Amino acid sequence: MDGLHTTMQAVCLRQVPQGMPQEQDFELLQRPTPVTGDGQLKVRVQWLSLDPFLRAQLGGRYAVPCPPLGSIVPGYGIGTVLEDRSGRFAVGEVVSGMTGWAEHAVLDAGSVSRVDTTQAPPSTAVGVLGIPGLTAWAGVRHILEPQAGQTILVSTAAGAVGSVVGQLCKAAGCRVVGIAGSAEKCAIVTDEFGFDACVNYRAADFPQALHAACPEGIDGYFDNVGGAVLEAALSLLRLHARVVLCGLSDQYNRAERPAGPNLGPVIGARARLQGLVVYDHLHEFERCRSELAAMIAAGTLRYREHIHDGLASAPAGFIGLLNGDNLGKALVRLQGNA
Ligand SMILES: NC(=O)c1ccc[n+]([C@@H]2O[C@H](COP(=O)([O-])OP(=O)(O)OC[C@H]3O[C@@H](n4cnc5c(N)ncnc54)[C@H](OP(=O)(O)O)[C@@H]3O)[C@@H](O)[C@H]2O)c1
Repeated sequence: MDGLHTTMQAVCLRQVPQGMPQEQDFELLQRPTPVTGDGQLKVRVQWLSLDPFLRAQLGGRYAVPCPPLGSIVPGYGIGTVLEDRSGRFAVGEVVSGMTGWAEHAVLDAGSVSRVDTTQAPPSTAVGVLGIPGLTAWAGVRHILEPQAGQTILVSTAAGAVGSVVGQLCKAAGCRVVGIAGSAEKCAIVTDEFGFDACVNYRAADFPQALHAACPEGIDGYFDNVGGAVLEAALSLLRLHARVVLCGLSDQYNRAERPAGPNLGPVIGARARLQGLVVYDHLHEFERCRSELAAMIAAGTLRYREHIHDGLASAPAGFIGLLNGDNLGKALVRLQGNA
């Protein structure tokens, strides 16, 4: 055991959020540093990933139940190995896993992945080369199946998943239209990520602007939001269009589940709607990572990170993510650790 770290800071769940989470739903506490058991490793956490699924989990709408009150907020992170009792990792190696919002974490060796720091900066292991990248890659490869010359529409286009989806479809020769929540985000989507157009769903003329951006309709839609944006996208489906149902950002903070969208256009278009769960594709992680890393190295895949500094900033950063304040993959950098 690393005797220097008998206690650590951790962000714990104080109360279950109702509606949009508030900072007082969380609290920064001093906690005993967990002790490393056989088959486990202890890491010093350098980066935390802020992800929308946490809101679904805190609302009891996720595959994993809401954590008990007072426990450390769950989440992916990246850390440096301080101690290994599995015989599989060396002290000083960088790994990613479910660290939670804490300065240190003890993890089962089988649940962590080694981070190749020669490929790209370590923080990308929870972003473009992590679960968001795999989500985008799997949805594009297995469901969207973009063909050159087709038009593909992508929501949360400035975000971690959406930005990769659009760039993969551009690389496949498609015309790509994004949907994002502000003029600033739309400019990032077109100027940095190379989409052909981007429409602000918060603008009063959104339906008209979306039709104007997709005058011939769409052959594919990658949906991260549901709700009115999904309904607007369905009205644009061309014959045999594919729709990836990936996320429901529009309803994560709602107590009631809203009525579904009108699915009439799906019938006329003979379209295919398919749900995506990234965990079904973990066996493809290596292939996905090497393809995306090669694109980053070649300059054909760009990514953006929105960094919050210090463990104490995690709750505000998470709330900002749900508000749409993040300009890129939302991360927390732990002071003195990264
Ligand atoms: N199915 C899976 O296995 C899987 C895996 C990973 C992620 N996901 C989903 O993928 C989506 C994107 O995740 P991410 O990590 O890349 O996050 P992100 O896009 O970087 O950030 C979340 C974005 O959601 C948008 N948003 C928030 N409230 C919204 C609302 N009411 N209507 C429309 N958009 C809203 C905001 O962007 P705007 O400002 O543009 O609104 C916000 O920036 C999420 O829905 C997530 O749950 C699914």
